[in-house]
Amino acid sequence: MVERELALELARVTEAAALAAARWMGRGDKEAADDAAVTAMRVMFDTVQFDGIVVIGEGEMDEAPMLYIGEKVGMGVPPLVDVAVDPLEGTNIVAKGATGALAVLAVAPRGALLHAPDMYMEKIAVGPRCKGRVSLEAPVRENLHEVAKALEKSIREVTVVILDRPRHQQLIEEVRSTGCRIKLITDGDVSPAVAAAYEDSGVDILLGIGGAPEGVISAAALRCMGGDFQGRLWPEYESEIQRAQSMGINDINQILTIDDLIKSEDVFFSATGITDGDLLRGVRYFSGRAVTHTLVMRGLSGTIRYIQATHHLDKKPLFKDNKIRIRM
Ligand code: FBP
Repeated sequence: MVERELALELARVTEAAALAAARWMGRGDKEAADDAAVTAMRVMFDTVQFDGIVVIGEGEMDEAPMLYIGEKVGMGVPPLVDVAVDPLEGTNIVAKGATGALAVLAVAPRGALLHAPDMYMEKIAVGPRCKGRVSLEAPVRENLHEVAKALEKSIREVTVVILDRPRHQQLIEEVRSTGCRIKLITDGDVSPAVAAAYEDSGVDILLGIGGAPEGVISAAALRCMGGDFQGRLWPEYESEIQRAQSMGINDINQILTIDDLIKSEDVFFSATGITDGDLLRGVRYFSGRAVTHTLVMRGLSGTIRYIQATHHLDKKPLFKDNKIRIRM
């Protein structure tokens, strides 16, 4: 069993990444924002008491200098865990100063997180009241009527979040034909997937095709909150099918349930807002201080914590030493 104190340590890790990336809001440089978040997250992991292996990260070892797949993180002491990270979920969002960018991670006992290849995944995410009522096998219309029934509202009051992409044209038309409301987003499907678990978030269901790694991270959050998630890989190239198979997913058409994606209830999730979004407030600056807003939770206990933290930037070695401000 993973120690419960880990939750606070993980919150510090996503806080550091968010603080680093938030400096780049609206500056049009998504690479710099990403670099800052990755570096800060990597540095903070050195202080975490676990023996972690990155299973979802910034890419393969030869493509990413830090937080690559297979990299060991943490202090190298038990518990043995799998780590899924997205130090900056929504690089374009930060570059444009738009809504919904997060620094996010999930941790579970070794072997419990699906090693998802970096490719697309068809997704459906809902909150606890809709658990077991939706399926990727069912027609869109049927899923949406089930959501309306489960949430005891009219179909016209159901809000569906979809990434605004040409590949979703047919899906958008199908959803519109049911009368549901749609919120088209430019980027960042983790925030609305998790927000679906809150009845007052303004998001009832997330549908569509986004990144598979982001799918696993969203599933970790929904597993902690009693929500539901299903994914099906959506390969574009033959090489992606082979890659998925080499990572243990033999049937590319398999519907991956939340329990396939997250195989243990002992999963942790932490997300800190970088820019304001459905789920979290972004980083705010005051003289010499910055305030972060973090959601951290654990599946085993079901405890969901919001941490609003005030950081005195001149007392933070990570920021004071300019370690992650080199390109500023
Ligand atoms: P980045 O953070 O890597 O920029 O991407 C975020 C994201 O919008 C995800 O939230 C989403 O799952 C995926 O990209 C969608 O991919 P695409 O932009 O190729 O449609």
